[in-house]
Amino acid sequence: MKYTIAVARGDGVGPEVISQAIRILDRVSGVYGHKFEYRSVLAGGAAIDETEEALPKETIDICRGSDAVLLGAVGGGKWDALPREQRPETALLRLRKELGLFANIRPAVLFEALADACPLKAGIISGGVDIVVVRELTGGIYFGEKGVKESGDMGLAAYDVEIYAEEEVRRVARTAFSLARERAGKITSVDKANVLESSRLWRRTVSALAAGYPGVTLEHMYVDNAAMQLVRDPGQFDVILTGNMFGDILSDEAGVISGSIGMLPSASFAAGNFGLYEPVHGSAPDIAGKDRVNPVAAILSAAMMLRYSFGLSGEAEAVEQAVKSVLDEDYRTPDIYSEGKKAVGTKEIGALIAERIL
Ligand code: IPM
Ligand code: MN
Repeated sequence: MKYTIAVARGDGVGPEVISQAIRILDRVSGVYGHKFEYRSVLAGGAAIDETEEALPKETIDICRGSDAVLLGAVGGGKWDALPREQRPETALLRLRKELGLFANIRPAVLFEALADACPLKAGIISGGVDIVVVRELTGGIYFGEKGVKESGDMGLAAYDVEIYAEEEVRRVARTAFSLARERAGKITSVDKANVLESSRLWRRTVSALAAGYPGVTLEHMYVDNAAMQLVRDPGQFDVILTGNMFGDILSDEAGVISGSIGMLPSASFAAGNFGLYEPVHGSAPDIAGKDRVNPVAAILSAAMMLRYSFGLSGEAEAVEQAVKSVLDEDYRTPDIYSEGKKAVGTKEIGALIAERIL
């Protein structure tokens, strides 16, 4: 089969990690006989430099016409002085919105070989960690009304409205329930229903859906408690379902448990098989161009693409297994390095992973 992939390398370490993800896809194509056609698109700072726009229309059109999108990372100090609506990050936010990518899946898995890179005590992670954060991605406070106004004695005031409609909650909750059904069968829906009206609607809506998924256990948790429970006893979580802002925060927290944010892939879905795949980490300009960045997050994102957009589960597992082997053989990029391990750079770990896909 032939699959078309829109590729936005982006800024900072983006191009480096995407090169390795493509190396892996090329390897999969060679071993399994699939054809991947890559279409390069501009997004973020790279797009601003060339076209003066963070997300040119051409990029949106090419993404829409592809089977999936692979994205590196956007942003960097170079564009910090720009007003909010012109910043590289708007490329990401607009792409999510334009492509209708309402469900963001962020797995946080602790590879056994990396237990010593996890900042939590051995006793806390002894049962392993295998969590998926399902984050609503096109609504909530990120996309509610925003503004700045004069506020009398208090000076200038600025606001961002948190708003969720029932159907926005339902569609992302369905993704979480379907996922939980194939995993350990537990959802923790995270909100702040003791304070926020939007959270009360969120909670009611998710509860009402639960009846349709008899094999799945649903619990609700306040976000402050969830932030604490994640580091106190991460083993209690299977699927965490939450809104855009809480999901942004909790997925970073869940991420660090896996040893490094450099290990974390993500997928964002609209209805159907179309998806955008990107590492959770940012553009890390401080280490860009130094062959230091860990490409595993991008590589595992490509594996998610194989599984979810192309239905190639066997191929996805082969990639994941190859990553595991390389870690088991003690190869480490700087972010996960500890004494006595084998230090490797971005390109070398990419090559080692590719070699192990047979
Ligand atoms: C993420 C990032 C983005 C977000 C930023 C870059 C806009 O932090 O994907 O988690 O907040 O969604
Ligand atoms: Mn984030």
